[in-house]
Amino acid sequence: MSDPLLRWRSEFPVLENTVYLISHSLGAMPRRTRDRLNEYADIWSTRGIRAWEEGWWNMPVTVGNLIGQIIGAGPGEVTMHQNVSICQSIVASCLDWSGKRNKIVSEGLNFPSNLYIHHQTEALGARVVTVPSEDGISVPQEKLLAAIDEETLLVSVSHIIFKSAYIQDLRAITRRAHEAGALVIADIYQSAGTLPLNVRELGVDFATGGSVKWLCGGPGAGYLYVRRDLWPKLEPKLTGWMAHKKPFAFDPGQIDFADDAFRFLNGTPNVPDLYAARSGYEIIHEIGVEHIRAKSMRQTQMLIDLAEEAGFPVNSPRNPSERGGTISINVPNGYEVTQELLRRDFLLDYRPGAGIRIAPHFYTQDQELESVIREIQSIVAPVGRFR
Ligand SMILES: Cc1ncc(COP(=O)(O)O)c(C=O)c1O
Repeated sequence: MSDPLLRWRSEFPVLENTVYLISHSLGAMPRRTRDRLNEYADIWSTRGIRAWEEGWWNMPVTVGNLIGQIIGAGPGEVTMHQNVSICQSIVASCLDWSGKRNKIVSEGLNFPSNLYIHHQTEALGARVVTVPSEDGISVPQEKLLAAIDEETLLVSVSHIIFKSAYIQDLRAITRRAHEAGALVIADIYQSAGTLPLNVRELGVDFATGGSVKWLCGGPGAGYLYVRRDLWPKLEPKLTGWMAHKKPFAFDPGQIDFADDAFRFLNGTPNVPDLYAARSGYEIIHEIGVEHIRAKSMRQTQMLIDLAEEAGFPVNSPRNPSERGGTISINVPNGYEVTQELLRRDFLLDYRPGAGIRIAPHFYTQDQELESVIREIQSIVAPVGRFR
C-alpha cells in the first residue's frame, strides 16, 4: 500500500540510521531546523539590536500563531513560553484561591508537573481533588464529572493521558465545568499534532502544551492558549515587564497589563528555541493533523495486533476513538529490554506501570513496526531464561 506521508522521511535525518518510535517523547528534528538556527545566528550577528524590532520581540505571538493553526486558536490567541510547567503556573497565578470557590479538580494520571503545581497552589488556599485511575489507563469520566461542583474554580485535565495515550472527552468535561461555573485548563501536549483538535470548538478556557513531541519542534517552546473573552479578567501574578502595556516606559510600581495576549508573558523570550520550533509546526500544518491521525490509528492498531500475536500484553485502549498515538507493551523485564533495544538503535522508552512505549508518527514505515516486535521477541526469549 502506498503511503504518501513517507515522502517526508528524507526531511528527518535521524530516520536514516535508527528505528525512530519515540515521538511521544522527542519528535525527530526536521532537516530545515538547522537552517532556522543558522538564520537566528545570522540575524543576531548582522542585525544586532535591530533584531528585536525586526521580529524577535513579537515572536512569542507570531510563533504562537503557527500553533494556533494546528489547535484551532485564532491569531494572537497563543503565546509562547518555555514549557508547560510555566504555562500551568501562569494560569494558577491568574486565579483567586482565597474564596469558597477554591477547588482544583484533576486526574491521578495527569502529568506530574501539573499535579505538583496544583499542590503548591494549596499554599494560596486551593483545595486539590484528584480523581484516581482504576485501571492505570483511563480515569472514570463519571467520577471526574461528579467531582466538579459549585466550589470548583479550575478543572485541570489532560486531553490524552501521557502514560496510556487514553483520549479524554474534553467536550463533556468542559460542558460540566462550565455548568458548575468552573474554568478548564487542558494539557494538550500529547494530542496537538497527532489528534485533530479545536480549542475554540471545545470551549476550553486554557490549553497548554509543548513542542518536544509530536510537533517536532524541540525543547524550550511551550505554548499557552487563553480564551479571548477572559483576557480582561486575568492578571497573572507570575508576570514581568513584557506583560506591561508600555514595556519601554519602564514604569516602576504596579503593572498595567497589556490588553492583548502579551499580558500572559513575563520576561525575555527564548528566541533561539522559537526559531528551532517553527519548522516542525509548519510541517505538521502542511501535512494536516487529520492525515497524521488516520495513519496513526492504522499503525497503532497494527502494533496492537503484532504485540498480541507475539503474546505481549498491551496497556493501551483497544477502541481507536479512545486511543492516542502511543502503544504501551508490557513485556517481562521491560526496562532491561528497552535498554537493549536502545543499544540496537530502536529508539523508544519505558515507563513503570505502562511498559515499553512505542509511537509511530507520520514518518514511520510499517516494516519498522514489524521489526521492533521481532526485536523485542528476540530479546525477551533469552532475558526470560535468566529471570
Ligand atoms: C502531557 C504532558 N504534559 C507536560 C509534559 C512536560 O511538561 P514541561 O513542558 O513542563 O516539561 C509532558 C511530557 O514531558 C507531557 O506528556
